[in-house]
Amino acid sequence: MCGIIGILYKGRHVAKDLVRGLKLLEYRGYDSAGVATINRDELLIEKDKGRIDVLNSKLGFEDMPGRIGVAHTRWATHGAPDKINAHPHTDCDGKIAVVHNGIIDNFNEIKDELIRKGHIFKSLTDTEVIPHLIEEYIKNGYSYRDAVIEAVSRLEGAYALGIISLYDPNLMIGVKQLSPLVVGLSEDGVFIASDINSLSPFTKNVIVLDDGEMVFLRTDGYEIMRISNRQRVDKKPLTIEIGTQFADKEGYVHYMLKEIFEQPVVLNYSIRVQEHYLNLMAELLDRSKEIFIIGAGTSYHAALLGSMILSRIARLTAIPVIASEFVSQYGDVVNVESSVLAISQSGETIDVLKAIEFAKSRAATILGITNTLASTLTRVCRVYIHQQSLPEIGVAATKTFTGQLAVLYRLAMVAGKRRGKLSQREMDEMKVEIAKIPGVVEAVLRNVDPIVKKLAKKYSKTKYFIFLGRGLNYPIALEGRLKMLEITYIPSLAYPAGESKHGPISLVEEGVPVIFVAPPDETRRFIIGNMEEMKARGAKLITIGYSDDSELKELSDEYIPMPMVNTLFSPIPYVIPLQLFAYYTATVLGRDPDKPRNLAKSVTVL
Ligand code: M6R
Repeated sequence: MCGIIGILYKGRHVAKDLVRGLKLLEYRGYDSAGVATINRDELLIEKDKGRIDVLNSKLGFEDMPGRIGVAHTRWATHGAPDKINAHPHTDCDGKIAVVHNGIIDNFNEIKDELIRKGHIFKSLTDTEVIPHLIEEYIKNGYSYRDAVIEAVSRLEGAYALGIISLYDPNLMIGVKQLSPLVVGLSEDGVFIASDINSLSPFTKNVIVLDDGEMVFLRTDGYEIMRISNRQRVDKKPLTIEIGTQFADKEGYVHYMLKEIFEQPVVLNYSIRVQEHYLNLMAELLDRSKEIFIIGAGTSYHAALLGSMILSRIARLTAIPVIASEFVSQYGDVVNVESSVLAISQSGETIDVLKAIEFAKSRAATILGITNTLASTLTRVCRVYIHQQSLPEIGVAATKTFTGQLAVLYRLAMVAGKRRGKLSQREMDEMKVEIAKIPGVVEAVLRNVDPIVKKLAKKYSKTKYFIFLGRGLNYPIALEGRLKMLEITYIPSLAYPAGESKHGPISLVEEGVPVIFVAPPDETRRFIIGNMEEMKARGAKLITIGYSDDSELKELSDEYIPMPMVNTLFSPIPYVIPLQLFAYYTATVLGRDPDKPRNLAKSVTVL
């Protein structure tokens, strides 16, 4: 959470580009924002509560002069989202500005010590201890550079920092520990940022910092140092191609809607990920004694479905686990013969990284599926697959979910073939079927969009929703529920349809909308029974089912007709109406689906 960016240019002002990059980081948090620049021996700071665009118009971020600057977009951890707690933070003399993503665990102890020494704190943040601590070392005779090194050596926790100072106005310092930080280099100048995407308008040449490293950047070069031993680290920039075209709304009102409609295109990329890496991963899975498949939020739903697909197609047992629960639930049995397949769109979710760190310490094999090249996940995995869904800006995961599923299907197919559970003919047939899915998704988007839009209007005033599905579509019910509640704030439940009578049915009364995900597969006849049970108690049945299924249609109050699809792959098209339903309900209610309250795209705090 929180996004940071810093720029030092040779010959022009940085503020416009800081704001441009910051906007690409807004997915990481958006409750407040701020910019610091240095101009003519003066440290200028503008910050407040609110969104970047609004603050830019109000405070004139882009007009701030200076060739060096840092900027921040915040997801509050310590201290309410307000002007005082917004970053950048400064020392008592206003000579050092710091932006920070992460949490300083030992800030209370440092703060008490600094207060005893006379430092005056303005905010409630953990971050503010950093400029004061640097100031304190300078008071004690350290050079500015050494003071920064001493100060960061004392910090415990997770931190990516951007630091500029009047003590050396031509130097920008970046520090990385657990939170991500990349360095960018171009003809015009040097950059630091929380992700590569935010640097894509400025440069393709990047260096990904590792934990425990700091970087000193000047317009004529850079030096990377390992903090623990103060030794220089030799790292050369990589050239990373990231298109900026997908970072634009392209005429859509919201990123979320654009990303939902992008699915037919990007699914084609995910289905065609390189077979070589799928094979490597399948080989490692096949060798493992036990397999865990972990993720958080939407990525956990992909993990759950992935586990079912691996079982069904490859006859492999993979235990799906919520990442934050992994160590307490299964830590004791993880060993050198275990594999952990981590699914994370961002590759930076701290719950996932912590689970992996633990598994690695037990010598388990770490595998990953991610949408973010050069993310921390990619660097700790033995094999990872880049799902190629292109950047996703909306906080609600949509195209990256279906992309994860596409990769998991392909992985299960390759593993099934390797293990002799699929013949070449069966594999070829499955390849033909999965290749049809982007076209099916396109048809679904075309046909159901107007229907779902109307339903959203009709049901937006409901007190709560219930989502039910069975088998492969139970994770889809969970995902429909998560989309609905995270962007509309309407309380929602999801259960396996068969489980609904073991408790949730007591919530059903006249008019409660119950959404059934009901493709024409082996679960259909049981689903019909569950629908009858709900209907008998007054529920409004909203069903997603095959367009020609007259029995289901008759039973339902509302029907979302789906094209015929190979039922093994039905979860991908069947989630589309649920994404649209959540999206339109949010817009009817006047919520911002791209930036739901209290959330951030990348959750980097425990
Ligand atoms: O980047 P990750 O896939 O690891 O993110 C995991 C969750 O934070 C994420 O899926 C979250 O639940 C989304 N807001 C869901 O729409």
